[in-house]
Amino acid sequence: MDARPGPAESTLVEALHEHGQEHVLHRIDRLDAPARARLLAQLACLDLGRLREFRRLLDAPPSAPSGDDIRPAPVEVLPTNEAGREREAGIARLGLDALRADRVAALTVAGGQGTRLGYPHPKGLFPVSPVRGKSLFQWLGEKVLAARRRHGCGLPWLIMTSPDNDAETRGFFERNAFFGLGADTVHFFTQGVNPILSEDGRLLLADADRLLVGPDGHGGLFDALARSGLIEMLARSGRDLISCFQVDNPLMDVADPRFLGHHIRRGAGLSSKVLAKRSPDERLGLAVILDGRPAVVEYSDVPGDIAAARLPDGELRLRFGSIAAHVLSVPFVEDVARDERGLPWHVARKTYEVLDDEGRRTVRPGCVKFERFLFDALAFCRETAFVEVRRESQFAPVKNALGDDSPDSARRMMRSLWLEWLRSAGVRVPEQEAPPIEISPLYADSEEEFRLRMRPGRPPTFPLVLDA
Ligand code: UTP
Repeated sequence: MDARPGPAESTLVEALHEHGQEHVLHRIDRLDAPARARLLAQLACLDLGRLREFRRLLDAPPSAPSGDDIRPAPVEVLPTNEAGREREAGIARLGLDALRADRVAALTVAGGQGTRLGYPHPKGLFPVSPVRGKSLFQWLGEKVLAARRRHGCGLPWLIMTSPDNDAETRGFFERNAFFGLGADTVHFFTQGVNPILSEDGRLLLADADRLLVGPDGHGGLFDALARSGLIEMLARSGRDLISCFQVDNPLMDVADPRFLGHHIRRGAGLSSKVLAKRSPDERLGLAVILDGRPAVVEYSDVPGDIAAARLPDGELRLRFGSIAAHVLSVPFVEDVARDERGLPWHVARKTYEVLDDEGRRTVRPGCVKFERFLFDALAFCRETAFVEVRRESQFAPVKNALGDDSPDSARRMMRSLWLEWLRSAGVRVPEQEAPPIEISPLYADSEEEFRLRMRPGRPPTFPLVLDA
């Protein structure tokens, strides 16, 4: 077979030389024709302008915000008295009306690599529920289904995957009959990828015929939604609100009327749920005003003394952290996707298996991944609402294999919440350390619903599994 480069290939080779990336071709002549074609096709799709931007970012990283620029953001806090509760109930009615009028879609960002959890499948397949071992996807799916029943609405479910986990994710839903949601009401779309670079800005090979790439961050959602055509589908069907949440929080309220209500009342583009941080170093982005504008800044980007500063009453000055649950307005998503400025890029350093220059497989720490963050779209937003929610009933993240924010800690939180519901419904619970309990969102997804279904005094037997 003739291995001489054709005209298109010569242009590509020249461009790679010009960008100092020709090393990825050094061993191409050892590849058979299909492998060679695969590598060249991937290289031809590289956005060299973006690659230049990434290298500039490595050479001159943006400075972290200085403490003087950062103030606490105004937050719609949880009510503490009857008047406050009435006000919030009125606002929740706006959200309820929107749900009932079929203005809302649910969206899960599930394209991440889940490195910290170390689970060898997409994170949504992880068995999270304490007794039955239902997956995160099933658990969230049951919440979507429960919300549909509760509000008598369609609530389509959009799921963002990445090229690496798309097929396995779709296959999982198909094998499980879409968890009873209806295949035509679950819509997958795939986010983009970026090349992962060495510390000195060189492309890396994951295999002889494949560049090392990684998903472009949850902020990739804007482009991906627009590309997929789903944003038009929503607009056409009269849905102008998206309730957006991560795949790894089994306590998420997937269609929260109060949260939607605050967003609607403000006429916001993007709103975020927040809660009071446990400590200054809890790994949550901070809800702040930065240079006069609402923003979420990564905890690691805030100088330690500013993050730890306290008010005279002992509260943290920067008290509220984002749990990465958002409401997005559909026209806002369209605007961000169209905006040429684009969201900024952030770098994360991770360890990957790569091929070295001699073609040997090697584990390489410090590889640089470039990601966009959804919350950076706040900079494009005229109005926003930060809405406080109760940690115990809304936030049980599954990030790490062990310790804090792990499957164990999430299951403990789910169990504590259900024990609270049982007690408030007048059910006697044995004092035993951790009685096995599982309450499906299809049985009840809030204390209120639970009290309606569970009669006081009914003696439970454990394990207590309450399904649909
Ligand atoms: P994380 O920031 O926890 O990242 O994602 P991750 O990739 O899942 O896990 P680590 O950092 O490698 O351990 C938070 C949420 O955003 C989604 C994830 O799937 C998760 O729901 N996400 C993250 C994406 O959809 N795409 C991305 O590129 C990154």
